[in-house]
Amino acid sequence: MDKIIVHGGAALNGSVRISGSKNSALPILAATLLTKEPCVISRVPDLSDIHYMLTILSELGCEVERASGIVTVKAEKVLTEAPYDIVRKMRASVCILGPLLGREKEATVSLPGGCVIGDRPIDLHLRGFEALGAAVRVQGGNVKVLAPELKGATINLRGKFGSTVLGTDNVMMAAVLAEGTTVIDGAAEEPEVEDLANFLIKMGARIEGAGTRRIIIEGVKELHGAEHEVIPDRIEAGTFLVAAAIAGKEVTLKRVDPAHLQAVIEPLAHAGYEISNGKDYVTLKANGSHKSLTLETLPYPGFPTDMQAQMCALLAMTNGVSAITENVFPQRFMHVAELKRMGANIELQGATAVITGVDRLSGAPVMASDLRASAALVLAGLKADGMTEINRVYHIDRGYESIDDKLNGLGAQIERVKI
Ligand code: EPU
Repeated sequence: MDKIIVHGGAALNGSVRISGSKNSALPILAATLLTKEPCVISRVPDLSDIHYMLTILSELGCEVERASGIVTVKAEKVLTEAPYDIVRKMRASVCILGPLLGREKEATVSLPGGCVIGDRPIDLHLRGFEALGAAVRVQGGNVKVLAPELKGATINLRGKFGSTVLGTDNVMMAAVLAEGTTVIDGAAEEPEVEDLANFLIKMGARIEGAGTRRIIIEGVKELHGAEHEVIPDRIEAGTFLVAAAIAGKEVTLKRVDPAHLQAVIEPLAHAGYEISNGKDYVTLKANGSHKSLTLETLPYPGFPTDMQAQMCALLAMTNGVSAITENVFPQRFMHVAELKRMGANIELQGATAVITGVDRLSGAPVMASDLRASAALVLAGLKADGMTEINRVYHIDRGYESIDDKLNGLGAQIERVKI
C-alpha cells in the first residue's frame, strides 16, 4: 500500500494534460457488452477502477486488449453473472446490468452496499428495468434482472436527490435493444451520459436528447462494433483548477472541454481568480486576494458533488466565511475531520460545511477515505506548512491518473512511498 507525502509550499506553474474521463469510460466499456463485434475505445485512463471493469469484462468472457490508453473489447459470447469478488470492489460495476439485460435478457450482480460517501441505493435503476418489463429479484446479496422480452416504456428516473447518472446509463443501455420506444424523463444531464449515448449511436442505437432531461430511444434489433474516444475528465480538470487556485501562479489545463467546466470556473472567477480559456484549454492565474464563497452541489450543470471536497480545501485557506451545501450525497464529508486535523476551521451543520478561512494549514498525517476526499487532502497539503502524509492512497489511484507525477510536473514536491 502506497502513501503520498506532500511537502507544502511549492508554487505550481506551467501546463498539465488532462486524461480521459473515468466516469465516461466505465459505462462505455460496459456498453461493449451490447455487441458481438469488436469495439475500440481510446483515451481510456489508466486507473484501478478501469482495471476492475476490464477484469469484469474478461471474467464475463470478453476478449480484452489494452495498449497505451486504447482498449479493444470483443464480447462474442458473454456470461450473465458477474464475479462477486471483483464487483464488490467497485460500485460502478452495477452498470453491466443494463447491457447484459439488453443483450441476454438477464443479468446478475452482487448488490452494492453503502460506501463512505453515503447510501448508494440502486432502486431507480431497478425501477427503470421493471418498467421495461424485467422482473427483479434480490437474493443472497445478489440482484438478478430477468425479462423474457424488453418493451419500450416511459420511465421517470428522478429520485429524492435528483437524477441518477449510472441509473440513466443503465436504463439507456437496456432500452437500446428493447422493442419500441423508451422515454426517460428526469434523465441525468451529465456530459458522461451524453458521451455514452454518442458511443451507443455509433454502435447503431437510435437515441435523441442525451444530455437533456428527456432521452428518447427507439429500440433496434442489434448493435455493431464501433470506435470511440472518451471525453476529457471534467473532475480531474476541476481538481487541477482548484490545485492551481490553492498553490498556483499560472497553470494551464490542456485537452479539456471548457464547456463542461463552467460550474467550477464560475465560482473560482467569482472568488477573484483570473481564468481564460480557448477551445480545449483553460488557464488560471492566482493573483491577489480572493473572496469566500457560498456554494451548493447539484446534478449537472450545477456544481459537482465530485468537486465538493477539493473546494472545501481551497475555502479552508480563503479569508472570510464560506459555506458548501451537499445536496447529492448529504453525508459526503469524510474529508472535513482530516482537514480539521490540518488546522482548518470547518463546522458541519447538517449537510452544510461552514468554513472559516485560516491563513495557513499545517501538514499532518491524514487518512484518505474516498477518492475525492483524498484529492482534497493532497491539494490542502500543497500549501500547508511542512509535510502532509496521506495514507491509503489506493483511493486516489482509483480515479486520478498519476496525480503525483502530474502535480510534480507543475512544480509540486510530492513523493510516493511504498509501505
Ligand atoms: N440514488 C438513489 N437511487 C438510485 C440511484 C441513486 O436514490 O437508484 C441517489 C444517490 O444515493 C445519490 C443521487 O441519487 O444521492 C445521485 O446518485 P447517482 O446515481 O447519480 O450516482 P452514481 O451514478 O452512482 C455517479 C458517479 C459518481 C458521482 C455521482 C453524482 C460514476 C461511476 N460515478 O455515481 O462519481 O458522484 O454520479 O454525480 O459515474 C466519483 O467519481 O468520485 C464518484 C463518486
